[in-house]
Amino acid sequence: MENYILTLDQGTTSSRAILFDHAGKIVSLAQKEFQQHYPEPGWVEHDAMEIWSSQASVITEAVSKGHFNTTQIAAIGITNQRETTIVWNRETGKPIYNAIVWQDRRTAAYCDELKKRNLSQLIKEKTGLIIDSYFSATKIRWILDHVQDARELAMEGKLAFGTVDSWLIWNLTDGEVHVTDVSNASRTLLYNINELKWDTELLTLFDIPESMLPVVKSSSEVYAHTAGNLLGRKVAIAGIAGDQQAALFGQLCTEKGMVKNTYGTGCFMLMNIGNQPILSKNNLVTTIAWKIGDQTVYAFEGSIFIAGAIVQWLRDELKLIKNSEEIEALAAMVPDNGGVYIVPAFTGLGAPYWNQHARGTIFGITRGTNDSHIARAALESIAFQTMDVLTAMRTDANLEIKELRVDGGATRNNLLLQFQADIMNAKVIRPEITETTAIGAAYLAGLAVGFWENLDEIKKQWQTDRVFSPQENNTKELIGKWNAAIAAALFWAESESNTTKN
Ligand code: G3P
Repeated sequence: MENYILTLDQGTTSSRAILFDHAGKIVSLAQKEFQQHYPEPGWVEHDAMEIWSSQASVITEAVSKGHFNTTQIAAIGITNQRETTIVWNRETGKPIYNAIVWQDRRTAAYCDELKKRNLSQLIKEKTGLIIDSYFSATKIRWILDHVQDARELAMEGKLAFGTVDSWLIWNLTDGEVHVTDVSNASRTLLYNINELKWDTELLTLFDIPESMLPVVKSSSEVYAHTAGNLLGRKVAIAGIAGDQQAALFGQLCTEKGMVKNTYGTGCFMLMNIGNQPILSKNNLVTTIAWKIGDQTVYAFEGSIFIAGAIVQWLRDELKLIKNSEEIEALAAMVPDNGGVYIVPAFTGLGAPYWNQHARGTIFGITRGTNDSHIARAALESIAFQTMDVLTAMRTDANLEIKELRVDGGATRNNLLLQFQADIMNAKVIRPEITETTAIGAAYLAGLAVGFWENLDEIKKQWQTDRVFSPQENNTKELIGKWNAAIAAALFWAESESNTTKN
């Protein structure tokens, strides 16, 4: 009996495999971290073979752990770190370079050049995106320009490009199938979100041969079956979505105007904007949320690069805490931030500022500043950045967004969520199932194979754990100080960018 859906959740720091039952409950989970490579300042790479081997090993572990049988798996759903770029040789199946991770900034100068050539509007109209090294196109181009013989091999049709979903499916099918879905394609800077196809003009602009690209599919259909002996039988691969879009689906934000925020290494806020690719006037990107059947749903997205990562920084570099959970207690030892504000722009600022040159800054330190103030300011910086994105969304959508569904590791932190509700003057809702990314991909796969009948059946599974209602309305001064800190950080970024130019 096929009682389970298997989700492969391939993230920035770990690969996970999770089995869900029909009620949406986790019955087995395996997770493996893999190595991060930082070959130069601002560069971030993964070994693509390690991405695959760690993913393959957790699949086996999740299935064998609970003594499950692969005949019990109805389908596989895939969700993944987005934008991360892998180029491999179609004949050998081997990557020709490490995966260049979404956080990698090596192409920032080239992006500045594109902006100076006034290409921002054209690119935004076609892709919904902003010119930034975050997205895949400039990373593919870098590989073609820097790896020996790459361009020749690409011209001969011998190279394949894929985001991590494509790479996993290529390996799961022993090199038979080279596909992606619309949600991942829409993060490459190469996909036309109006016409739903790879954009020839952009491929020429970035000098990328179309033969490298995967076939773009919907987010919920049977793409292929697993090959070889990984699972001992052929299992349908039936759902794909980039992790943030999968979380929007997993949070059941299926109606226009619904918003979710995921607090991970970074924060990603997405708002369902319905069936039209409306463009933002406030520096959000427009992205494809998912396509089911012939219905394409779009979203506004605000990506914040550093969120939970600041807590890791306090733990690993400043050594203020031993584990991430300790931050809540440390921050709660003081009644307020004591005038300290942190702008955690370690890798530049994402939405709504999009400044590649900004760097982390701490303001307002006095002789009385202690570790608790720093901890509190760090937590608050996550909430302030989220507030900035929500403000942009409110303006763009011309809607008084009254609630935000939240998920991700940091949502265990009640202090953070209460502060979040206060400064946004909106309800923050934490659901019972916080594995929303993985369940989103499971839902997409399950719908494709009839494991779940329809959305209505799935919607019943979403339950509230706790609602944080705005309480403190004396937040104006705090917000004013935060805005001043951001302005100062941007001023500093100006001098950084001049130094880079000189
Ligand atoms: O856009 C990057 C995002 O998809 C990464 O997500 O959860 O792997 O940090 P995560």
